[in-house]
Amino acid sequence: MADLSVDLGFLKLKNPILSASGTFGYGVEFSPFVDLSKLGGIIVKGLYFSAREGNPPPRLVETASGLLNSIGLQGIGVKRFSEEILPQLKKYQTAIIVNVCGESEEEYVSVVDFLKKEECISAYELNISCPNIKRDGQCPALHPDSTFSIVNLVKKNTSKPIITKLSPNVTDVAEIALSAQEAGSDAVSLVNTFLGMAIDVETKSPELANIFGGLSGPAIKPIALRMVYQVANAVNIPVIGIGGIMSGKDALEYLIAGAKAVEVGTANFIDPEITLKIVRELENYCQREEIHKIEEIIGTLKIGTLKLDNAG
Ligand SMILES: Cc1cc2nc3c(=O)[nH]c(=O)nc-3n(C[C@H](O)[C@H](O)[C@H](O)COP(=O)(O)O)c2cc1C
Repeated sequence: MADLSVDLGFLKLKNPILSASGTFGYGVEFSPFVDLSKLGGIIVKGLYFSAREGNPPPRLVETASGLLNSIGLQGIGVKRFSEEILPQLKKYQTAIIVNVCGESEEEYVSVVDFLKKEECISAYELNISCPNIKRDGQCPALHPDSTFSIVNLVKKNTSKPIITKLSPNVTDVAEIALSAQEAGSDAVSLVNTFLGMAIDVETKSPELANIFGGLSGPAIKPIALRMVYQVANAVNIPVIGIGGIMSGKDALEYLIAGAKAVEVGTANFIDPEITLKIVRELENYCQREEIHKIEEIIGTLKIGTLKLDNAG
């Protein structure tokens, strides 16, 4: 059996498959379908300090090969999370990663501060890239300076590793990733959803109450993969790939592009057992290709020499 473990430096995962925040509840909801101890890790739904209702409905629309959501980070808040969810979640032998949100920089700090006594939390993923909080999709991950400021502040206020989750709604994602690295982020994860919209032609109104939503699923994979490749070549901290991963093959593409681990999101809504099926597909691939350690394939993309003569 191949060794599927991956070492992020600050955290060793038993395999590279993580659940993506917001698509796997708080983890425990998926325990009837998946042996959670067999996953590399669970990234829970984004947590604000207080409970939130999220945006008004309708807030989900299916599109060709994708899903538009404007949930707006509905959640139970840190207190209920630590009292009701963590005691259940920590029974599983898997990494627990908390996706941290905030209306302000101070709120991010108050979330990690409240959770500081929780030893079972392996790392925080800073969600600075949700397009559904402000109507125009604005978020700190759109600018290098606001990314630096928030990562730097949270880093100073916790001893736990930080993974900064980046937005694809930028021109140069590598520039933002470098800002996160400079601010002390231990890793970056990308991508969050792409800002999009859908229109009901009968009523001539937006299909989402929030007008805009975040696009996820297979439709975004080629763009997200390109961004992960660019970021992996720009930073020297680990990169976690996210976007449209539906199969072991999709996950492998991200690893070959340079991601050390991946997150599986929208696919969980189609098949709640998909995360574990992907782990098994990776095992089969390694066996078939006689790979002893999955880490051997990370960043192994072969680029031929470009012949530009007579190119169209
Ligand atoms: C319904 C829904 C809710 C989400 N909630 C969060 C969240 O709370 N925090 C976060 O960082 N990302 C959230 N995301 C983004 C996903 O974690 C992931 O980055 C994105 O969906 C792309 O991956 P995918 O194509 O595999 O779904 C959410 C996505 C969806 C579809």
